[in-house]
Amino acid sequence: MTVVALVPAAGQGTRLGLNIPKAFVTLKDRSLLERAVDGLFTSGAVDEVVVMVPADMIERARELVPRARVVVGGAERTDSVRAGLAAAPGHDHVLVHDAARPLTPAPMIVRVVDALRAGASAVIPVLPVADTVKRVDADGAVLATVDRADLRAVQTPQGFTAEALHAAYAAAPGALATDDAGLVERAGGTVATVAGDPLAMKITTAFDLRIAQVLVEESA
Ligand code: C5P
Repeated sequence: MTVVALVPAAGQGTRLGLNIPKAFVTLKDRSLLERAVDGLFTSGAVDEVVVMVPADMIERARELVPRARVVVGGAERTDSVRAGLAAAPGHDHVLVHDAARPLTPAPMIVRVVDALRAGASAVIPVLPVADTVKRVDADGAVLATVDRADLRAVQTPQGFTAEALHAAYAAAPGALATDDAGLVERAGGTVATVAGDPLAMKITTAFDLRIAQVLVEESA
């Protein structure tokens, strides 16, 4: 059974406030993209990696991650994943892993792949939610307090049988989703969970980048 990892890296990362696409931002001399791709290969759990980047970053990406296949992403994250899926047919299992999670520990990647090998058709790493979460209206007034015990924060890599992921994307052409398992859920599929890891944090804001910098310095 072979595993391909698709790495969406085509976002502009505007919330980070820098003028280069987020995946090309460096953390102690190595880009988020290099770190995310190296982490996947180092886990020993994937056979091939495909990265999806902005059209004008193709050459740069090929220099940074020569072991990966590099293709052009799309306007939305789901478009980028579609492009990656089309570029890597013939695998039994597909992981989708954000380039924006450069510190993801190898054992977490292995947990996701192990769950697929054990028979799951879709699996996501999750963490408990520490903060109390409330639903608010458009003016910010509280409508309800959501029971925290039932909530999980979702990370990547998310794992799928190729069949389940292709079916989910085919069932919702043009659909937008913040994660791929969301499309599987909409298509009626079952999604299993494994334990996530705080180190698999997603870098979205300048604050996240500062935290990641401290973590990288600490582990050096
Ligand atoms: O913007 P956000 O942090 O949610 O993006 C998550 C991941 O999806 C990032 O690695 C980003 O590069 C990628 N992405 C993409 N194509 C887009 C938008 C985001 O590959 N059009």
